[in-house]
Amino acid sequence: MENGKIRVGVLGAGGRMGQAIIAGIAGDPRLVLAGAIERAGHEAVGRALGPLFAPSLTICSNPGPLAISSDVLIDFTAPAALAATLDAACDGKAAIVIGTTGLEARHQAMIDRAARHIAVLQAANTSLGVTLLLRLTQQAARALGPDWDIEIAELHHRHKVDAPSGTALALGAAAARGRGVDLAAVSDRGRDGITGARVAGHIGFAALRGGSAPGDHLVMFGGEGERIEIGHRVESRDIFARGALKAAAWLAGKPAGRYAMDDVLGLPAL
Ligand SMILES: NC(=O)c1ccc[n+]([C@@H]2O[C@H](COP(=O)([O-])OP(=O)(O)OC[C@H]3O[C@@H](n4cnc5c(N)ncnc54)[C@H](OP(=O)(O)O)[C@@H]3O)[C@@H](O)[C@H]2O)c1
Repeated sequence: MENGKIRVGVLGAGGRMGQAIIAGIAGDPRLVLAGAIERAGHEAVGRALGPLFAPSLTICSNPGPLAISSDVLIDFTAPAALAATLDAACDGKAAIVIGTTGLEARHQAMIDRAARHIAVLQAANTSLGVTLLLRLTQQAARALGPDWDIEIAELHHRHKVDAPSGTALALGAAAARGRGVDLAAVSDRGRDGITGARVAGHIGFAALRGGSAPGDHLVMFGGEGERIEIGHRVESRDIFARGALKAAAWLAGKPAGRYAMDDVLGLPAL
């Protein structure tokens, strides 16, 4: 803490989310910016963080010192950066909010290991609305049962590099949990050509890319003669930054362990 404020370190400071988070910290009386990191060689390294912050505060490339001077880190970068970031967070005893998507099983295993030493909150989507959509999806899947086909569609801007989106996969995992099945065993990704009829009990994914859409998700439950659709549309990228900052303020000082946005919102375990 610094003057009663939570010290936040930002990873991916030159990126879209990093910029939104730094702007959010400047306007949040609970938080103070401890520093910011970019990939070594990135043109933003060495740049001052702007008039709202001390002139000495420049973007660096080594997460080690930043983790030591931060109560909590916020990471919106790339999966390749995760191992070094988690090592730095564990060594510096900083909690960490991970918003980076495209994480695979080996990244999840790294996060589990780090969570033995520090508080870690990983969320493929830090918005309040999507946190609730995940919960509703799990409840609906449980209530409706396997006769209802579940399809998850998402739309994102043309720059997005991973598909399906982390949020779509999290929605699929929520639906699978609701049904008591393993998502990997039932997911249909990227149908093309003569695929045959839909397999009962499978969960399908479709990814659209184009324009500047920050992220739309639709979960469809298709029954015989009726259909339920629940969804969420992002109007501004700021919602992710607001959610990440709320999560960071909540996570700072928590004991080691893995946490989720549900915990931040106080949603009871299902
Ligand atoms: N959880 C959520 O709610 C949520 C919401 C939006 C986005 N996301 C995810 O957050 C991530 C970032 O999104 P974005 O839209 O901000 O992307 P972006 O604009 O490309 O920003 C990512 C930034 O991280 C930098 N970076 C890459 N490797 C790094 C490293 N090793 N150390 C430090 N910085 C590194 C990138 O640098 P280069 O440009 O040089 O590679 C870039 O400046 C993506 O995985 C995205 O899917 C999550």
